[in-house]
Amino acid sequence: MNIRLGAVLVTLATMAGYAGLSSADDTGAARIKRGAYLVAAGSCNDCHSPKILTPGGPMPDPKLLLSGHPAGSKMPPVPSKIIGPASWGGVFTNDLTAWSGPWGTSFAANLTPDLETGLGGWTEQVFIQAMRTGKHLGVGRDILPPMPWFNLARLSDDDLKAIFAYLGSLPPIRNAVPQPIPPAGR
Ligand code: HEC
Repeated sequence: MNIRLGAVLVTLATMAGYAGLSSADDTGAARIKRGAYLVAAGSCNDCHSPKILTPGGPMPDPKLLLSGHPAGSKMPPVPSKIIGPASWGGVFTNDLTAWSGPWGTSFAANLTPDLETGLGGWTEQVFIQAMRTGKHLGVGRDILPPMPWFNLARLSDDDLKAIFAYLGSLPPIRNAVPQPIPPAGR
């Protein structure tokens, strides 16, 4: 059901993109459509979308797509002494938006174009550089697991631009995702 809903949303977005056709709009709409396809195949929603818990398991909340780990949500305490080289590699919340492992706790970023809390202030170039280097904003601290930036790094510039165009076409959602928490004892 959720998959069909996603398809309807993509169709609506595509139709909206085609309204008032000029050749420039046409290129933009095609790029956004390719971006939507790459985001679906790249599983971005698995980690970056808040979930609705359904009897069939957690599903991306269609109203909050790609808005990141919900600010202010209650985090269960990370069980002590379960993460280590000879035990578990990590734990995650049941909406898959917060992850704890040897790197500490990381929270999936808000990928919507909100200016202050999302990617609204990013340029295409910043996005490409962040995905290619694994550095926050392309220049800062390391981007933490489990963000698979090294897989996205293998995409062409055109594909990364398509993803960025699709993300920019989403409704901006204000959600200030917390900063990562360093591992205990550091
Ligand atoms: C397995 C979970 C997971 C998947 C799948 C995933 N991400 Fe992430 N992503 C994260 C986490 C966690 C962070 C926050 C990492 C941090 O704070 O260092 C993040 C951060 C980001 C950032 C911010 C980078 C920065 O400079 O701070 C961007 C942009 C991003 N992801 C895009 C994507 C896109 C696009 C996809 C799909 C193609 C995707 N992610 C798939 C977990 C994931």
